[in-house]
Amino acid sequence: MDFTGNHIISVSQFDRPAADRVFEVADGMQPYAMRKRITRVLQGAILSNMFFEPSTRTRVSFGSAFNLLGGEVRETTEVKASSLAKGESLYDTARVLSGYSDVIVMRHPEAGSVAEFAKASRVPVINGGDGDNEHPSQALLDLYTMRMEIAAQGRSLDGMSIALIGDLRFGRAVHSLCRLLCLYSNIRLHLISPPELSLPDEELDVLRTAGHKVESFQDLSAGIQDVDILYVTRTQEERFPSQQQADRYRGLFRLNQSIYTQNCAPNTVIMHPLPRDSRAQAQELDEDLNQNPNLAIFRQTDNGVLIRMALFALVLDIVEDIDNHSRPVTWFTAKRHLPV
Ligand code: CP
Repeated sequence: MDFTGNHIISVSQFDRPAADRVFEVADGMQPYAMRKRITRVLQGAILSNMFFEPSTRTRVSFGSAFNLLGGEVRETTEVKASSLAKGESLYDTARVLSGYSDVIVMRHPEAGSVAEFAKASRVPVINGGDGDNEHPSQALLDLYTMRMEIAAQGRSLDGMSIALIGDLRFGRAVHSLCRLLCLYSNIRLHLISPPELSLPDEELDVLRTAGHKVESFQDLSAGIQDVDILYVTRTQEERFPSQQQADRYRGLFRLNQSIYTQNCAPNTVIMHPLPRDSRAQAQELDEDLNQNPNLAIFRQTDNGVLIRMALFALVLDIVEDIDNHSRPVTWFTAKRHLPV
């Protein structure tokens, strides 16, 4: 895969060497993300960060990643704050914004919209999530985190068993993750969801074609036994025709410390793309897990900066120049590392 100047729209663009290249470049970003060094390699470059759906971590971590490489960020965060609200097309918006920026990150509620936008853009476009379709940077950071967590146990992802829990129908992070897991071999997947929110056939076919063993469960305790990684997801309420329909699924699969202890081996990794729904009726990943050292959710969010820095560095072809434009950081940074 040639990264330079190209769009990143789907994880289907990645083969194993391409994913490994992202992870290798991400590893090299540690000193900058941890504020040990500062680089100005992208000084003068501009990112248009266009988020037409709510976001905290994807939007802010893409922006932070660009800032950490020395570039500047221009944000639009709602349709109503852009001229899309006045009927401007994605084509015109892309033509205009690509005249103002060096790279664009876009999130949009319609599946396929970021690909359509990218066709008209004169600069690289990175998909920050398009409807229920894909979330490539999330899947890359999830896979990067899984590799690290499992490597810390002296094992590799090949041959692992992973439980995917919750809304597997509308969860775009799950869809992208399933496709990336096909770059590995012999994975056993436990799909835990209500029948109406099960993984789409397209993703199932991709997993089975890759030779992975897939089993479906409707009972959380049964499905989380004998797996290495639990990947919990939120009910994607915004994709349902009504709030009433979404509410039927709220709180169906609550994971807490007691259920974990009763059903899981003590080193089972717990992940979630976040946000987790912590409202009383949902509690899909209970806060009593916060002190569990296997809860990797904040390592995932930290890794998001590394992965997004790597994507910018590869697409803008500055990987080899980063260290040449760097110096040590002088301000206080000691509280950056949390114990769990
Ligand atoms: N995981 C994720 O996409 O989070 P945000 O919606 O906060 O960006």
